[in-house]
Amino acid sequence: MSSEPGPSTPSRKRSKWDEDEDDRPSYVPQPKRRVKAKASSMKSADDPGPPQSRTPSYPPSTVYKPPYSIYVPPRTRHPPICPSRSVYCYERLNQIEEGSYGVVFRARDKQTGDIVALKKLKLDEEKNGFPITALREIYALMSCRHENVVGVREVVVGDTLTQVFVVMDFIEHDLKSLLNMMPSPFLQSEIKTLMLQLLSAVNHCHQNWILHRDLKTSNLLMNNRGTIKVADFGLARRYGDPVGVGGMTQLVVTLWYRAPEILLGATTYSTAIDMWSVGCIFAELLLKEPLFQAQGELELIAMIFKLLGPPTKNSWPDYSTLPLAKTLTLPSPQPHQFRSKFQYITSAGLDLLMSLLTYDPEQRISAAEALEHPYFTESPLPKHPDLFSSFPSAAAGEKYGILF
Ligand SMILES: Nc1ncnc2c1ncn2[C@@H]1O[C@H](COP(=O)(O)OP(=O)(O)OP(=O)(O)O)[C@@H](O)[C@H]1O
Ligand SMILES: [Mg+2]
Repeated sequence: MSSEPGPSTPSRKRSKWDEDEDDRPSYVPQPKRRVKAKASSMKSADDPGPPQSRTPSYPPSTVYKPPYSIYVPPRTRHPPICPSRSVYCYERLNQIEEGSYGVVFRARDKQTGDIVALKKLKLDEEKNGFPITALREIYALMSCRHENVVGVREVVVGDTLTQVFVVMDFIEHDLKSLLNMMPSPFLQSEIKTLMLQLLSAVNHCHQNWILHRDLKTSNLLMNNRGTIKVADFGLARRYGDPVGVGGMTQLVVTLWYRAPEILLGATTYSTAIDMWSVGCIFAELLLKEPLFQAQGELELIAMIFKLLGPPTKNSWPDYSTLPLAKTLTLPSPQPHQFRSKFQYITSAGLDLLMSLLTYDPEQRISAAEALEHPYFTESPLPKHPDLFSSFPSAAAGEKYGILF
């Protein structure tokens, strides 16, 4: 792993954090130390009410009236607004990967020794202030805390305004690299566990009005204890927000995982786009390779038509109203080819897959419904995460060893 930004991003200014430890500036902002308060003032700050000893003594006829409402607790502290810590609180270990929205490093918290992942947001080319995509990413990660969503710890800053890092728990693998590395696919019992975790995270995001909009195996992290963490909320947005002129952007979701309604130009879409991606991920877990490896949008549409059979009035009543539908000539009706493509899955499994890979977003299964699907309660049952094998972590620089 390179310690310097690669040739693909020549314009990125070199971060001091990328340099040797010795180069770090002598000033490292530290949380302000509290001035030791005198015993009496500390007492009054922590106590909810006036201590007995400080109650003034009144003549017996006077009723004591506290100087605050008895129904509202006294305000003793201001909200904890404090400046972001410095990236120099972390020791850089190695670069994990450079994606389209940021470079990800593995690092150690100098105070606690915890190993973390730092995603340096790409802000260099920004002329209009802090980019909305970065704000959305931080907002979505913070509002979707869940066992199966990567944990965000804090946002730290470097020496310049273009150096903003999101600090996350370090997770050993991403599912794409893991699938490439594994000699054989996951077992059915393992796929059920992974799917339940993924669906549970997606359901949580949707319940919190967040669309992920970029679900794919490289954005699913997996630790060595059999737990999946959904990551990369760089394209996420709140779907309750008013949609501007022109609707929501179609430039979402990596091509292979993109729902047919987006391919056909829909400008209003919802949680169902994430569910299509979940269907593609389910298929990828079964096949150990991506389902629709198309070079472009037209090829992808052709591949979808081939697997599902072309859309009909029944399977997708709104098809003809989509902006790009008129530009396509539908092939002659054919039955779907799910069974021949997925020969070893049970009927229940196939039913779940088809419910996810459904043309009509209105009829596509939701995350909450999918969690209740009979596939998860039939034999073999989901495997306990503790029973998953552990693998060498490429992100931590570990080599493919004797584990396989
Ligand atoms: N918390 C983490 N722990 C370990 N590795 C991580 C973590 N977060 C991200 N990574 C690694 O870094 C890669 C890129 O991260 P991420 O997807 O967040 O960035 P991105 O720039 O949005 O990427 P892309 O556009 O390629 O999807 C991931 O695929 C994963 O391999
Ligand atoms: Mg990514």
